[in-house]
Amino acid sequence: MVMGKGGVGKTTIAASIAVDLAGRRREVHLTTTDPAAQLAETLGSAVPGLAVSRIDAAAEVRLYRDDMIARNRDRLGPEELALLEEELRSPCYEEVAVFLAFARIVKGARREFVVMDTAPTGHTLLLMDTTGAYHRETLERTRGVAGRVTTPLMQIQDPEYTKVIVVTTPEPTPVLEAEALQDDLRRAKIEPFAWVINGSLAAAKPRDTILRQRARAELEPIRDVRERLARRVAIVPFLADEPIGALRLAALARG
Ligand SMILES: Nc1ncnc2c1ncn2[C@@H]1O[C@H](COP(=O)(O)OP(=O)(O)O)[C@@H](O)[C@H]1O
Ligand SMILES: [Mg+2]
Repeated sequence: MVMGKGGVGKTTIAASIAVDLAGRRREVHLTTTDPAAQLAETLGSAVPGLAVSRIDAAAEVRLYRDDMIARNRDRLGPEELALLEEELRSPCYEEVAVFLAFARIVKGARREFVVMDTAPTGHTLLLMDTTGAYHRETLERTRGVAGRVTTPLMQIQDPEYTKVIVVTTPEPTPVLEAEALQDDLRRAKIEPFAWVINGSLAAAKPRDTILRQRARAELEPIRDVRERLARRVAIVPFLADEPIGALRLAALARG
């Protein structure tokens, strides 16, 4: 799971990991909640061994509402049904619907590598939150039932099953935001596997005086990530050629 704020390079890093795994002849599934065009632009053409999918929040919530109505049509009177329809229009059902789609994909990772590029801003937290609610609900429903239950949250918490990668750029504010994300994950008992510092001018070793000045300003936030925040760090330079297309993405992953 590749996490971070919008614009830090999540889709790029997720696609680069997916392309690299596919190159090692693994079965790989790359999935995103970004608009379809975004991923298509990053990947370029199809990559052998790499399946790509997109969680469409609007479509998922439509499916979820229709399903709930269909299940209850015979059970409820017209007034109760109208109430249910109104309730299902509440925005929280969008998160539930997106989560259910997400949980299906997490399950699929038993058979293949799944690389998830999660949506920007607040979404991640909501995702974890709904994961938590679902987790409790599943445990309650199955209490007293024999056998072991594995919920999606348990799969995400399991470091052998899920590796969370936090992406940031080497600037103070994005690093603070990534730290807040890491804190939220830790509250859900999820320990990020590694951080990626993306788009580093310092790592690009510029000759230009102004760029060198900006590169120096990165040293403090980079040190902060290295020494205080992350267990493992990869630094990706700011690339003069935008990292799009399988070849450049593979090169990025190889460092
Ligand atoms: N290391 C890099 N060097 C240069 N451009 C980059 C780098 N990483 C990402 N980009 C470019 O920055 C833009 C935003 O990256 P993207 O992966 O779409 O971010 P996010 O998914 O976090 O919103 C894209 O145009 C991408 O090609
Ligand atoms: Mg993206």
